[in-house]
Amino acid sequence: MKSIRIAMIGSGYVGLTTGACFAEIGHQVVCVDNDEAKAAMLQEGKIPIYEPGLESIVHRNAAKGRLSFSTSIKEGVEKAQVVFITVPTPPQPDGSVDMSFIEKVAREIACSMTEYKIVVDKSTVPVKTGEKVAETIRRYAKARVEFDVVSNPEFLREGSAVEDLLHPDRIVIGVQSPRPVQMMKDIYAPIEAPIIVTDINSAELIKHAANSFLALKISYINAVSVICEASGANVEEVARGIGMDRRIGRHFLNAGIGFGGSCFPKDLSAFIKIAEQLGYDFAMLREVRKINQSQLERFVRKIEETLWVLREKRIGVLGLAFKPNTDDVRMSPAIELCRRLQARGATLRAHDPKAMEKAKRELKNVEFVEDMNAVAEGCDALVVATDWPEFKKLDLARARAAMTHPIMFDGRNLFDPKEMERMGWIYKSVGR
Ligand code: UDX
Repeated sequence: MKSIRIAMIGSGYVGLTTGACFAEIGHQVVCVDNDEAKAAMLQEGKIPIYEPGLESIVHRNAAKGRLSFSTSIKEGVEKAQVVFITVPTPPQPDGSVDMSFIEKVAREIACSMTEYKIVVDKSTVPVKTGEKVAETIRRYAKARVEFDVVSNPEFLREGSAVEDLLHPDRIVIGVQSPRPVQMMKDIYAPIEAPIIVTDINSAELIKHAANSFLALKISYINAVSVICEASGANVEEVARGIGMDRRIGRHFLNAGIGFGGSCFPKDLSAFIKIAEQLGYDFAMLREVRKINQSQLERFVRKIEETLWVLREKRIGVLGLAFKPNTDDVRMSPAIELCRRLQARGATLRAHDPKAMEKAKRELKNVEFVEDMNAVAEGCDALVVATDWPEFKKLDLARARAAMTHPIMFDGRNLFDPKEMERMGWIYKSVGR
């Protein structure tokens, strides 16, 4: 196996996890970040995010000298054969993507290049970004320095990022010339996964098209859940039945309070905007977004229908992260749910296994409870907002005894409706 010298420009979620995994499979990696405090923290072995398995990989590879941290792009570029761009591409108010970090990093990479480099974009970017990055580097690089731009989108999910990186379904490599292909294949050689080589525009589109399709699957099942509720069918059974058709598949067919996180909402809006700029009205995806927004509001109305007036009601919320196994609360439907309940006058107690610290910055006047089994105390209702597996082990008898009246709104369909009713709960879930 060839050990390749790699620089990750941007040590956020993607840069750090990908860089650590590249080191883990034998490459020599430097993770660069312009945030000095963050780089210093990483240098000391402190990881700013919770991601299962990441900490031990970072420590092991730092100790072996295969993973280091820096604040200097120049140092990163000088040391590396392959330079990955992994900086944020945040949304702008109109849904389009803010490309200023990518553009700035492209300029800085160009200024630091003294010999042939492969510059790989891993951040999620609109189609045709590769062309712009190449143009920018050409403009700012010294006269005769050669380079290639590659698009290599990431598909990692928070909470299982390490697993996704080491065992991906596929690796997409978008190139404009054959020259960088072998080096890219060498980087991924220790990973067993099909590699597809495409042109750069297609590689960039694959990312937005994949995430939008997954969001579409979720909105589809959420729309079906509305029909299930209106007709007395069970969305879990419907999802099982349609998911067994291999052309459809069971994944991403879990009805709930909608998708959130730093990717789906942003990528969906970005793709709608990209289509619009290319002259196509992607009405289907606008509907996907609309269904997602109304799904949360429907859930709040369901709570109101049962509790009637929310003012002066005490509600216990289980889950604040946008999904399990992460402490990330960005665009979390659970946080938005809390805000809407508070806006209607409810008082909240809340618990999350990992995300309480980050949630404290987002929410005011919430009583955060360390023990999930203590959340129900004195509450008029319990709400499940994130599908953390540990919530299934909630002490339901204790929760029941601690409440004025045992009412649960399960936004993630964690419990069995029949069993809950047998235990004396008024239990409302989604699409069942
Ligand atoms: C996603 C993509 O899966 C990943 O490939 C991409 O690179 C980044 O965006 P992530 O945002 O980490 O990953 O989480 P994911 O597991 O995809 O879940 C996204 C949201 O959808 C969560 O809020 C989750 O609760 C929700 N979801 C997911 C559902 O509501 N139902 C489902 O069936 C699946």
